[in-house]
Amino acid sequence: MQKEIKILFEEIAGYSELNETEKQLFEAAKKVRESAYAPYSHFKVGCAVLLENGEIVTGSNQENAAYPSGLCAERTTIYWTSANYPGVKMKKLFVIGAPDSPLGSTPIPPCGSCRQSILEYEALQGEKIEIYFTSLSGQIFKTSSVRDLLPFSFDSSFL
Ligand code: THU
Repeated sequence: MQKEIKILFEEIAGYSELNETEKQLFEAAKKVRESAYAPYSHFKVGCAVLLENGEIVTGSNQENAAYPSGLCAERTTIYWTSANYPGVKMKKLFVIGAPDSPLGSTPIPPCGSCRQSILEYEALQGEKIEIYFTSLSGQIFKTSSVRDLLPFSFDSSFL
């Protein structure tokens, strides 16, 4: 029997449709994206995480001559957050990805490994993390949980 899974996401027309907090996250992700170390892919990604205490933590992708040793912006950010703010919940995660050129406007979603890593912290904190992803311009897609990006989720409940 074939079955269907539905996921929900919100389509936000662009920056001007964001509320003030979301705009702050967009700006923070855009700014930190500039710090990306991406000499190999020339694809820069910035990530901003809003914590429950109101602080915003940011990070960018960091590449390496030994390619697999590099790390995405999302994981750079959430690992640093967990290391420096243990027990502090993550409320929203905003990602902006775009190549140096040409500048596209298609929302860039978190890769599979990042989805899995975000899920770990969402499960740990017992509260959903809203995910926003976009390019430097154009639509912004939002899900209310990383589980919408990872419908068949593997987490510690299986272990
Ligand atoms: N990248 C991220 O930082 N986040 C993602 O979710 C997708 C990919 C980075 C990894 C690499 O440095 C570059 O983008 C091209 O894959």
